[in-house]
Amino acid sequence: MVLASAPGKCILFGEHAVVYGQPAVAVAIDARIRVKIEKSESGWQIDGMKFDKSRHPHLDAILKRMWTGDGGAPLSVQIESDLFGAAGLGSSAAICAATAAGILHIRGTPVDELPLRGIATTAHLAEAEAQGGRASPIDTSTSTLGGAVFVSDKRESLAEWKYTRDLRIDGVQRTWEIHSVSLPQSLQEASLVIGFTGRPGPTSQMVAKVADLLKRQPEKMEDIERIGNVTRAGATALSLGNLQAVGIAMNECHRLLQGIGVSDSDLDRMVEAALPTSLGAKMTGAGGGGCMIALTQEPRRTAEAIEMVGGHTMTSRLGAPGVDVKTSD
Ligand code: MEV
Repeated sequence: MVLASAPGKCILFGEHAVVYGQPAVAVAIDARIRVKIEKSESGWQIDGMKFDKSRHPHLDAILKRMWTGDGGAPLSVQIESDLFGAAGLGSSAAICAATAAGILHIRGTPVDELPLRGIATTAHLAEAEAQGGRASPIDTSTSTLGGAVFVSDKRESLAEWKYTRDLRIDGVQRTWEIHSVSLPQSLQEASLVIGFTGRPGPTSQMVAKVADLLKRQPEKMEDIERIGNVTRAGATALSLGNLQAVGIAMNECHRLLQGIGVSDSDLDRMVEAALPTSLGAKMTGAGGGGCMIALTQEPRRTAEAIEMVGGHTMTSRLGAPGVDVKTSD
């Protein structure tokens, strides 16, 4: 039996714009997905029930790509999650990364030789397949590598370059350079309070909504480029440990995301409620429901303020370990 886990993530800057080749920054969070994989005597099983591919498209996409072991003999997969479900915290990416790592280990790769780049690549391709062909590598790279991840259209000097990912989206070849950002100690003085609206954030629908907006109003591509500029400023602030500047970039990013129609009234209300006790606040992930985040040095007060307007909260450090695999008898 193999136990694999991977962290969820929060995008600090650049969601949606990253699908169009702009940079983005995400941090892994303390909440994780844990996947238990073992051979099954009673056919393909997920969480003790018959495996229904249509309900688990991400898992199906990973298993199709990777599980040829024992002639593709049936497996039983159990998934446990600390994350709010379908909330823009990267649970599907974490499932893809953890399952890919677990399967590689079952196929014989020792834990200390697991190829992070290969895991992130397979997880990205599976996520794209399950998301109608449109997915950047930000979620899957952050879940795999952990820490803080900077995805850019070019190699950046302020972060450590890890690998290149590419994918054809809507007929355009996109290339992303994936970096790890080492977080200065000062960032440990702040926490992220994550506020969940209680409604799922439908990633593929929201990504399709932005694609449709850009088709109807091509001038909106300027907002996508502005998000890219704010992200660069935010990434620099993060690498220097300048909390104030990180917060300002988050606020600006939220304003631009409102402009492309992916925030909503619940997210806006929670962001407003968090601001008086925060360095910065914004929606995170796909939007249209899902979550917002606040960067704060007063996590308890910020969480209370978000809960007062109806949000469910959890608090995390910035950055958590990436994919992890253990064997058990
Ligand atoms: C979803 O967590 C982030 C989006 O930018 C989609 C993606 O990058 O694939 C909305």
